[in-house]
Amino acid sequence: MIDLRSDVKTLPTDLMRRAIFEAELGDDVAGEDPTVNALEARAAELMGKDAALLVTSGTQGNLVSMLAHTQPGQKIILEQDAHMFYYESGGLARLAGLMAHPLRGHYGALDPDDVEAAIWPPSVHSPSTGLVALENTHNRAGGTCLSVEQTAAVCEVAHRHGVPVHIDGARIFNAAVALGVEARELAAPADSITFCLSKSLGAPVGSLVCGDTDFINRARQFRKILGGGMRQAGIIAAAGLVALEYELPRLPEDHEKARRVAAALNDLPGVKLDMATVQTNMVLFELRRDDMTAPEFCQRLADYEIKAAAQSEVRVRFVTHRDISFDETDKVCAALREVLG
Ligand SMILES: Cc1ncc(COP(=O)(O)O)c(C=O)c1O
Repeated sequence: MIDLRSDVKTLPTDLMRRAIFEAELGDDVAGEDPTVNALEARAAELMGKDAALLVTSGTQGNLVSMLAHTQPGQKIILEQDAHMFYYESGGLARLAGLMAHPLRGHYGALDPDDVEAAIWPPSVHSPSTGLVALENTHNRAGGTCLSVEQTAAVCEVAHRHGVPVHIDGARIFNAAVALGVEARELAAPADSITFCLSKSLGAPVGSLVCGDTDFINRARQFRKILGGGMRQAGIIAAAGLVALEYELPRLPEDHEKARRVAAALNDLPGVKLDMATVQTNMVLFELRRDDMTAPEFCQRLADYEIKAAAQSEVRVRFVTHRDISFDETDKVCAALREVLG
C-alpha cells in the first residue's frame, strides 16, 4: 500500500530497529539514560538552544511548553488553523488553563501588526497574554514555511511586550530544507521550539522541546506531572538519533515527490490547488467536481493500492514521506490521471 495520509505512518528503518536493540539504557527520570542524554544534547545543538527534553509526542511538547511559559487564566495568541488550536483536543484550555486568541494568518503566517493588536494593554478587565505560538511548517495551510524574517518579526513584537514565543516546529526541518537555512536560524528568535521525530524524520515515537535551561527544567517537571517520565526511554531516543543522522539529509526527496504529485494534480479537471502552498512534503487541494466528492475520490484510490484521506467533502491532503519511493510517486501520478482525467 502507498500511504499518502500522513508522514506519521512511516515504519522504523532497519537501522533504527538495530539502534533500538543495541541502545545503552538507564533511568531517564533520574537523568541516567545515556542515549536520551545524547539525543537531548543533539537536539539542543541543532536548535541552537541551551537544553532539550524528550517528550512522548508533539502534543505533549506543545503542552509542557505552554505550561512552562504561562499561568492559568492568561491568553495564548496563535493562528486560527494552528495544530495547537485545532487538533490538540483543547489541551491549551483544559490543562494549561489558557484562553485562545486565534488570528487569521496568510499561508499560516501571523501578521506582526495583528499580534501587536491582540496583545491587549494591562487592564482589570482583560486577560494578560502569556504566549504567542507559531507553527512551522504549518500543517493545515499545506506544509507552508515561515521564514526567519517572518518569525523574527512576530518575536520582536511579542518580546517588546514581554511575551514569550513558542514554535510548534513538528516539521521544522522541512521548513529549513525548503528555505535553505539551518533549523537553528528558524528557532533563534523564539524562546522555545518543539520538533517531532515521528513525522517526516520517520522515527517511531517522540518529540523534543528545546529552550533555555530554566524553561527546560520547568518543562521537565510538567512532563512528570503529565505522566511523561519514561524511565528507559533510550529505546525511543536511539531511533531518534538515527533519524537525525540519516533521515534529515533525505528530506529534500520528499519535497520533490510532493512537487511531482502536485504537478500531476494541477493539470486535472476540477482540482483547485494553490501551487504556492506546495513548499515541503504536503499537497493540499480541493476537488470541485460533480461526479465525485473528496471522500469518494479517496475511496477510488484504494483500487490503486493508495491510502488517502479527505479532510472534508472537498478537501484532500496528501503527505509524502520516506516510505513512498519515487517509483511509487510516479504510480500515484498515473492513478490520479486515471481517476480524475
Ligand atoms: C504541526 C503539528 N504540531 C503538532 C502535532 C502533534 O504531534 P503528535 O501527533 O506527535 O502529538 C502535529 C501532528 O501531526 C502537527 O502536524
